Amino acid sequence: MTLISKDIQKAATLLKGGKLVAIPTETVYGLAANIYDQEAVKTIFELKQRPLFNPLIVHIHSFEQLADLVEEVPEKAKALTEKFWPGPLSLILKKKSSVPNLITAGKDTVAIRMPKHPLLLELLQELPFPLAAPSANPFNAISPTNAQRVKAYFEGQLEMVLEGGSSDRGIESTIVGFEAEEAIVYRLGSLSVETLEKVVGKVRLANQAKNSPQAPGMLSKHYSPSTPMILVKEVKQAIVQHKSKKIAILGFQNKIEGIDEQHQQTLSSSGNLEEAAAKLYEALHKLDDLAVDIIIAERLPEQGLGNSINDRLERASASS
Ligand code: TXA
Ligand code: MG
Repeated sequence: MTLISKDIQKAATLLKGGKLVAIPTETVYGLAANIYDQEAVKTIFELKQRPLFNPLIVHIHSFEQLADLVEEVPEKAKALTEKFWPGPLSLILKKKSSVPNLITAGKDTVAIRMPKHPLLLELLQELPFPLAAPSANPFNAISPTNAQRVKAYFEGQLEMVLEGGSSDRGIESTIVGFEAEEAIVYRLGSLSVETLEKVVGKVRLANQAKNSPQAPGMLSKHYSPSTPMILVKEVKQAIVQHKSKKIAILGFQNKIEGIDEQHQQTLSSSGNLEEAAAKLYEALHKLDDLAVDIIIAERLPEQGLGNSINDRLERASASS
């Protein structure tokens, strides 16, 4: 039985004993272990069926911990941490040799973030080590934004999920690295490019080459429901094209008349992109549970978090 509990002491004890615990964050739930415990970290990869070439994000609670992990913090990185930590931003920095190679998949850089979730920060303060935590879903599946979804994925294989409610950002952290004073976005996420650029000026979007091992979160297929899904600008047109099938709809603001209400999820009736991001994964989970033939998802406006949401919807609907 996988326990869902708010007991921070219990979570700390399990983690100190080399076990995995699923943790709440403001983005999505993570599957966490002590970064220095090789066996525990290996178990993360096994449970998720994640390839070993895909590095993990390290979660910290203080700038002292940051100093233990990295060789240097470039000027722009410093500005970003001051503005956005704790928060949904992961930075790729040059690692110290003490950071285990298993975490970084042999790279000389490490991804680090200071999450903004009160329960998780409390837990991190209880621990004498940082936590490595990928999203708490099997490789390529939809990320979980609540404890129940994590339990459903790993029932019996995981002792505990720390109950922290629904993740309020709802999509993964934005990942930023640095090259010759330039900030590079490796993964779109909960902090929009526009918001980053207010602090560091123009950023470069990493080459979105398919299956780039640089950031496997950018694999062309990822975050996927098991139901086939398409992403379109015109939902009504797509419905006509697929009228012989059992259809479910993921819409931005409006429901479609003539389609069963139970088969529709709307991300934000007021058109608020933050709300849409927060609801995205749970809406996908619910539509996937319906066992329809196809999910038709509506493309969001291409600005701010709309770009991050479209990125996830594109990967979720990629054929392979
Ligand atoms: O919001 C989040 O970031 C969540 C929560 C749990 O914190 N975590 C998360 O982890 O999304 P995961 O493992 O699902 O995605 C981590 C991404 C992967 O795409 C990985 O390739 C990239 O971070 N990454 C990690 N270390 C890297 C490095 N040194 N260089 C480039 N990419 C890196
Ligand atoms: Mg993930």
